[in-house]
Amino acid sequence: MTPGPERPLPRATPRDIVARVWRALRRDAEGAADEAWVRSLLRPAEHAIWVRQRAYDRRHSLRVARRLEARLAGTSHAREARWIAAALMHDVGKAAAGLSFLERAAAVLVNRFIDLETARRLARSRRPGLARIGLYLTHGEVGARLIRQAGGREEIAAWSEVHQGGAASGVPGIPPEVVRALVGSDVA
Ligand SMILES: [Fe+2]
Ligand SMILES: [Fe+2]
Repeated sequence: MTPGPERPLPRATPRDIVARVWRALRRDAEGAADEAWVRSLLRPAEHAIWVRQRAYDRRHSLRVARRLEARLAGTSHAREARWIAAALMHDVGKAAAGLSFLERAAAVLVNRFIDLETARRLARSRRPGLARIGLYLTHGEVGARLIRQAGGREEIAAWSEVHQGGAASGVPGIPPEVVRALVGSDVA
C-alpha cells in the first residue's frame, strides 16, 4: 500500500525502515573527519541542535548530506554550502520526540492510519506517549521551530518544515533543482 500524500510520513517505505533498523544496529559514531566537516558547514547554534540527535540520526544526516554534495557537484549550486547544511539538519526534530528505535517502528505503523492533522493533534496531547509519537510524525515542523528559535538559517528551517512531504510544490527560497536533489538524497 502506498501511503497517501496527507500522511505524516508519506515517503517512509518498509524498505527504508528495514535499512534503518540494520544501520541502527551498527553502533559506530561518526568519525573526527565527519565531525569537523559538520562543524565547517553549520553555524554554532545549528550545530548545538544537530549534536542532540541520536547517533543513527546523525549518521543518516551525514549520508544524506554526502549524497547531496555528490548530486550538486558540477552544477551551479556546488559551492552553496547552505544546501548541504539543510541536508544535515533536515531530521533534527526527531530528537524532540525522544523515541526509542522500537517506538519509532510503532510510530511508522501508526502513520499508516492517521492523517497529518491528527498527528499534529497528537503532538499537542497531554499524554506524553501520544505526544511523543505526534512529535515524531511531525518532526519536520518540529525541527523547523527548533532551528528558527535558535536563530538558524531560514532556508534550513524551511527545508526541515516541508521535507516529509517531498516538497512537490516547491519550497520558497530554495531553487527547484536543489529541492529535487534534496528529495533524492533523503533515502535510508
Ligand atoms: Fe524526516
Ligand atoms: Fe531523513
